Amino acid sequence: MNASVNAADLSQTFPLTPRSMPHVLLSLIRNPLDALPPEVFTEPVVFTKVGGKLRVYLTDPELIYQALVRNSDALGKGEDVRRVLGPALGNGILTSDGAHWKWQRQSVAGAFRHEKLLELQPAMIAAAGRRRDLWLADKNGPIDLCPEMMRTTFDIIVGTMMSGGDGIDVDKVERNITNYLKPTGWKFALGLLGLPEWMPHPGKEKARSAVAFLRATLGAVIAERRRSGEERSDLVSMLLGAADPETGRQMNDEEVIDNLMTFITAGHETTALGLAWTFHLLARHPDCQARLFEEITTVTGGGPLLGEHVARLTYARQVFSEAMRLYPPAPIISRAVVREFTIGAHTIPAGTIIYVPIYAVHRHADLWEEPQLFDPDRFEPETARNRHRYAFMPFGAGPRVCIGNAFAMMEAVAILAVLLQTFRVTGSNEPSPKPVMKVTLRPMHPLTLNLIER
Ligand code: HEM
Repeated sequence: MNASVNAADLSQTFPLTPRSMPHVLLSLIRNPLDALPPEVFTEPVVFTKVGGKLRVYLTDPELIYQALVRNSDALGKGEDVRRVLGPALGNGILTSDGAHWKWQRQSVAGAFRHEKLLELQPAMIAAAGRRRDLWLADKNGPIDLCPEMMRTTFDIIVGTMMSGGDGIDVDKVERNITNYLKPTGWKFALGLLGLPEWMPHPGKEKARSAVAFLRATLGAVIAERRRSGEERSDLVSMLLGAADPETGRQMNDEEVIDNLMTFITAGHETTALGLAWTFHLLARHPDCQARLFEEITTVTGGGPLLGEHVARLTYARQVFSEAMRLYPPAPIISRAVVREFTIGAHTIPAGTIIYVPIYAVHRHADLWEEPQLFDPDRFEPETARNRHRYAFMPFGAGPRVCIGNAFAMMEAVAILAVLLQTFRVTGSNEPSPKPVMKVTLRPMHPLTLNLIER
């Protein structure tokens, strides 16, 4: 079908998949993954009309490439992202568009260059070592993976990007991030109904005070840095020193907070959840765990993990990638079409919402053999080369691709290696808990593990 644009009568222009509004609303509140049309797991593209808007779900990697990479300038982050994340992340790098996004991205790019990341490796390994020591001191009971991994990656993000964060209370920050994310489904649902943001909903007040606490915490870090005038080689100094190339304008405190909030939340939740699911899967696949342990032992020679070992732990990367295939930490990304463009046979009008349900792409029947099966061999270089580049896209695609992707892979491999060197992990044979989307992909029930010291 070569569709011509006719926003007034979408049903004649696009093969719309019928959707039940009550089902979509309820699912958005409970678990936005359930609001995905089931066809996204089998079809390359699904068109729906909900809330008076054309909503397009792309799962064909080529169409994803055409949208997110080739036509990125026709897309904005859109109202949903602003509504759900805006109160916490303001107009920072993740939530902004256009020139404002561009100069923020350029301002921090230096912190993520390969040579800079290599300098951060010892700090990542040391944080993993601190977690191992805590586990050694208290290895009797089962471990609740999500909070354990959150604390470890938080330790890393604050240590590497904020020079330690000057006494930030990790547990309190974690609790407040969870309180903020809990009612996000309500925000999606109210947005779909076109209702104003001030509408009350469960968890709203807790979320509001969580944001106030988080922003005040970071405000204090900035105030202290400005007061001391100290220049450090970290993200805080980079943001404070950044100047817009067009105007020379520097970021005010609110803008620096927007970005620190973004890096702290986007930069530790995601990797932590990816790792929690990875350990959960390894406990269920002792053969993969044994192979990974063998690799770690061979590469390190049985000694402590060093920075130079990390890049050589190729099976560890495969395992983490396969866990992120099944449980992508950012399971759905969305865009608003700001200028009409064509992908495949379809002209997509301005005002359309585009979803890339990474979760569904990674489990799509046309892209993966036995998609539900955990098999790290899918990421052997030869096998991976034969796949479309965007069949696997846990970090997104195009100019808005995750700026921290190499950072995340590095820390994940370091954490896996340090902890598995000392412990074998086992779990129960209960079915895996259902994944629930609260912006990121969390387990519905705690992921617990037993540790056996090697
Ligand atoms: C396994 C871990 C991670 C996953 C799966 C992940 C996933 C993603 C995805 C899918 C996006 C694109 C969102 C979109 O297109 O709408 C993104 C953006 C972003 N991520 Fe990550 N991320 C991870 C770790 C990190 C880390 C460690 C950092 C920072 C240290 C980070 C910082 C960011 C930032 C700042 C953006 C916005 C980039 C922009 O819009 O220019 N992420 N991430």
